[in-house]
This record gives sequence, C-alpha cells and structure tokens, in this order.
Amino acid sequence: MQITNRRSQESLECTLDTKPQGSGSKLSLLAGIKEIGHVVYGEQGSDLRIRWIENSMKSTYKGVGSALIDTLKKQCQQNPRLTSVSLCCMDEDSAVFFYNKGFRFDGEGASSKNTLMDNLQQNPNFPMPDDIFLMGEMKA
Ligand SMILES: CC(C)(COP(=O)(O)OP(=O)(O)OC[C@H]1O[C@@H](n2cnc3c(N)ncnc32)[C@H](O)[C@@H]1OP(=O)(O)O)[C@@H](O)C(=O)NCCC(=O)NCCS
Repeated sequence: MQITNRRSQESLECTLDTKPQGSGSKLSLLAGIKEIGHVVYGEQGSDLRIRWIENSMKSTYKGVGSALIDTLKKQCQQNPRLTSVSLCCMDEDSAVFFYNKGFRFDGEGASSKNTLMDNLQQNPNFPMPDDIFLMGEMKA
C-alpha cells in the first residue's frame, strides 16, 4: 500500500496490521515498524463501528485516513454478516473527509446536514447556518 509524502510527493510503502483491542480491533498502518495511523473498530450486529480513526503524521503524510477507511469498507463488503460501516463524527473538519469517503449523516437532523454538505461541496463559501452542526452519526 502506497502513502504519499505531502512535501516531497514521494511514495512510501506501508503495511497493515490488525490486533485485538478491548472488545474490538485496532488496524494500524505501518511504515516499517512505525505506526503512522490507526483505526479502532468493532462489530455491532451487522454494523462495523469505527470508534476512532487517526492519521498520526498528518503534516507529513496524506492518504492515511483513506487507506484505513478503504480497508474497513472492503472488509465489510467481504463479510456477509456486515452491511454498514458507521461512526460518530465529532469534528466538523473531519466531516468533509468522511463525506468524501462516502459516509452520510444518519438519524436525527441527517437530511439538513447532508444537504449542507452537498452545498459546501459545490461552493466552499456557502454560508454556514448557526443552527446546523456537521457532527453526529454517519453511515456508509
Ligand atoms: C480525519 C483524518 C483521519 C483524515 O485522515 P487523512 O490521512 O488526513 O486523510 P486523507 O489524506 O486520506 O484525505 C482524503 C481526502 O479528504 C480530505 N481531507 C482530509 N482531512 C480533511 C479535513 N480535516 N478537512 C477537509 N478535507 C479533509 C483530503 O484533502 C483528501 O482530499 P483529496 O483526496 O481531494 O486531496 C485525519 O484528519 C485525522 O487524523 N484527524 C484527527 C483525528 C480525528 O479528528 N479523527 C476523527 C474523529 S471524528
């Protein structure tokens, strides 16, 4: 798996490693023995629930979050028990990343949040309403 260095644009060969963590698993993206990102997740019925995802070297590498999400989505597609990947987005900037990766807001207020995300994708200067926060349950 190739990850890109933001500054030099060079590619870095990375590997994936999964270990049990608590009642779920931790998937790490490794450059040699150094972890550059991870996602902690677990199965909840037919849902693969992401508890935390992080690019630990965001200023140096891009594509880490994408590599982790793409791996989990593939695991979900290959496992007949699983039908969705979900998470609780706790940060409005990360919502843009999750939206780009195919996640949509789910549950209460989802329709207005998804419409706002669509508008922001088309026009980054779209005025942000005071009463909608781009956080909460998301599903892919
Ligand atoms: C969210 C996070 C995991 C994304 O990982 P990443 O490795 O930076 O993401 P990628 O490089 O794979 O980004 C994929 C795309 O999303 C965009 N993107 C990533 N983070 C973004 C952000 N905060 N705001 C807007 N766009 C963002 C990238 O520009 C990229 O778009 P492009 O392909 O058009 O260039 C990372 O920002 C992070 O570790 N955040 C801190 C921890 C956190 O907030 N976790 C989520 C809690 S809900």
